[in-house]
Amino acid sequence: MKERRKVLVTGGAGFIGSHVVRQFVRDEKYYVVNLDKLTYAGNLENLKDVEGKANYKFVKGDICDPDLVQKIFADHDFDGVIHLAAESHVDRSISEPLEFVKTNVLGTMTLLEAAKNLWSQEGRRFYHVSTDEVYGSLGEDGLFTEKTSYDPKSPYSASKASSDHFVRAYGNTYGLPFIISNCSNNYGPNHFPEKLIPLLINNIKNERPLPIYGKGENVRDWLFVEDHATAIKLIYEKGRIGGTYNIGGLNEWRNIDLVEFLCDLMDIKLGREKGASRTLITFVKDRAGHDMRYAIDATKLNKELGWSPSLKFEEGLEKTVDWYLENEEWLKDVTSGEYMNYYEKHYSHSDK
Ligand code: NAD
Ligand code: TYD
Repeated sequence: MKERRKVLVTGGAGFIGSHVVRQFVRDEKYYVVNLDKLTYAGNLENLKDVEGKANYKFVKGDICDPDLVQKIFADHDFDGVIHLAAESHVDRSISEPLEFVKTNVLGTMTLLEAAKNLWSQEGRRFYHVSTDEVYGSLGEDGLFTEKTSYDPKSPYSASKASSDHFVRAYGNTYGLPFIISNCSNNYGPNHFPEKLIPLLINNIKNERPLPIYGKGENVRDWLFVEDHATAIKLIYEKGRIGGTYNIGGLNEWRNIDLVEFLCDLMDIKLGREKGASRTLITFVKDRAGHDMRYAIDATKLNKELGWSPSLKFEEGLEKTVDWYLENEEWLKDVTSGEYMNYYEKHYSHSDK
């Protein structure tokens, strides 16, 4: 058998990372090393089905640790890196902005330094997985394209924009072969229930209030996580070096419409009376600096590489709800202990 292509995935125990790791491990031509610190958002339960595979290795560690990162690079001679490790929740970035600078900026720099110093750059690729939030906030019309100027507005998006800039700067200055993609909001299995959709599913299940910031008029473009992972694999394999690709679902929802739709779906799934879950909707104090609307133009990715989302939102959401209802233990584990402290702290002050 030909030697496998070695790829370093960072943040592979998180929500999107675990789906990316699974897709690569399934493809026998890869050998995947997953470097993850296992923060509150990382969970080895997400990777049960790849554990023990011959073409997979997990390393617990911090991307901000230069000695560890350099050792991993020296040990493996990777063909490429897919960098997903990050602090990813906007609300946490508002209360703990420095943590975001540490992991998202310094962590990315630590990886870039290792790639610059230890790689011969020929034939390699450093793929940075980023967000559409770097583009700022849209009004009622328009879409983010790859040419939209950066205008990040939260500490989270500012840290991701900064790391995107450093990746491009290493390309321009040191010739590092890089690719960046900027994706819209993901949803699906293994999503930590601090983000809107899994938080709502968990609260509906437990008949707890559904906290909606402001008037619920903010708009997000939702993409099923498996479709994002498929796009990442395609871009890693076929994307142009030095290129940027926007990834999105062509699937805009106002938060309030989404929560009502989800309530109705879960009433059916849980055998509750129609309208029962909607009574849990509670409008709470708005998020500071809350971006109004995100929406992606993914034409370039579609035209260059033929990617488009495979699932309609209604199908994806049903799959997601089914997964959470079938994986009670997973949900119980991640919502015990520290999660409840976060929840109480964050939502107890959020009455209007
Ligand atoms: P997540 O918060 O679920 O997972 C992040 C993972 O990174 C966790 O496994 C965590 O343990 C790990 N990690 C955090 N700090 C680390 C460190 N210092 N060293 C090593 N590992 C560390 O995040 P996610 O939603 O899966 O997002 C993954 C990436 O995709 C992020 O870079 C994020 O900015 C980007 N992104 C996310 C979305 C979304 O909707 N979730 C959309 C677009 C882009
Ligand atoms: P979130 O899932 O945190 O993703 P992002 O802020 O990165 O888009 O939030 C999605 C939308 O839902 C956003 O407009 C904020 C809103 N939201 C609520 O109304 N209530 C909540 O409890 C949360 C977590 C989010």
